[in-house]
Amino acid sequence: MSEAMVDGPVTRSGFDQEKIVDAVRRAVGTPNGILGLHEPVFAGNEIAYLEECIKSTYVSSVGPFVDRFERMLEEVTGAKRAVAVVNGTAALHACFRLAGVEPGDEVISPALTFIATTNAIAYCGATPHFVDSSLETLGMDARALGVRLDAIAQKTATGTINRETGRRIAAIAPMHTFGHPVDLDAIAALANDWNIALVEDAAESLGSTYKGRAVGSQARLAALSFNGNKIVTTGGGGAILTNDEELGRRAKHLTTTAKLPHKWAFVHDEIGFNYRLPNLNAALGCAQLEQLDGFLASKRKLASAYERVFAEVPGVRFSREPAGTTSNYWLNAILLDEAYADRRDDLLAALNDAGFGARPVWTLMHKLPMFAQSPRGDLSTAESIERRLINLPSSASIRTRDE
Ligand SMILES: Cc1ncc(COP(=O)(O)O)c(C=O)c1O
Repeated sequence: MSEAMVDGPVTRSGFDQEKIVDAVRRAVGTPNGILGLHEPVFAGNEIAYLEECIKSTYVSSVGPFVDRFERMLEEVTGAKRAVAVVNGTAALHACFRLAGVEPGDEVISPALTFIATTNAIAYCGATPHFVDSSLETLGMDARALGVRLDAIAQKTATGTINRETGRRIAAIAPMHTFGHPVDLDAIAALANDWNIALVEDAAESLGSTYKGRAVGSQARLAALSFNGNKIVTTGGGGAILTNDEELGRRAKHLTTTAKLPHKWAFVHDEIGFNYRLPNLNAALGCAQLEQLDGFLASKRKLASAYERVFAEVPGVRFSREPAGTTSNYWLNAILLDEAYADRRDDLLAALNDAGFGARPVWTLMHKLPMFAQSPRGDLSTAESIERRLINLPSSASIRTRDE
């Protein structure tokens, strides 16, 4: 008797689509409609703070909630200075500018990231230079970064340059994918050895820790996002984190039109940006940050439930937090075994048909027309991850079956 006859819907030895869909059902139950990938939870002081904001008439780019939100971010992350801005992409753009990225430079970044990391590099007139990702962290692979730097980088009197293109390598920009921290110490050591600025794209990882320290808190510059799909949302919003007082002052200045403080005069001393986060959005953010611990706890419970059910399913594994870190599990992910990568799209369709808002990872940056000509190292692990990763519903509001 063939295996298919014994097991019913087995389509290939070791891979059973129905078992995977059923595992998700066993973790989170049968959805009533579509269970979205990541939905916000408003269960605290959101309405009270928004009402307070409207009554005060301070709804725009200054107001007490902006200051309060920044102080709360400093407390949560341990960073010396947090500067709230209009979104995570703007935070990244400002971070690269503050790190000294200039037109004609290169910035080393992962090919496996959301477009914002790469766009922010391009906004500076710089070129992204892609390095591979790690199967364990899903973020920039420190080993691949080291290999690439050894192959192409050269220290000169004016900085580290790419010998092949002649361009200066102005920054290294790892991203903590779905909340899983990259191996920060190893990447920071390379940045230090090569005298290149480190800018962390921590847009997805508020609440994650690396060796006990909050992600984003150790960097000279890091960017957060509070988009509607993030663990904490301000509707739209972002923040710059830094431990350098002077950079913090510069970050505020650059993102608030570079206006010199004065009672009435409008004098600006450089071309700044209107990247200020409105008080209304900051009010939402304060209420959300008050609930961060609860969100993190719910998301860990959900991640454990997924990890448990997938431990028994052949052909697929759950992407757990890297050793020495805690992930905020912003988005939960499973990886099909390479042999079943060609089943990914059928599985995505089956999951969505069953009411689970699953989705694939982003198209790799070097496959997009704007960045196809960018320099890059070997990207075989990123390409493998792209072929076989699926994100599963991850909202903090999702109750597991055992709750
Ligand atoms: C990795 C990464 N970087 C940057 C951003 C940009 O954030 P925003 O959407 O707030 O501009 C996001 C999220 O949207 C992201 O996931």
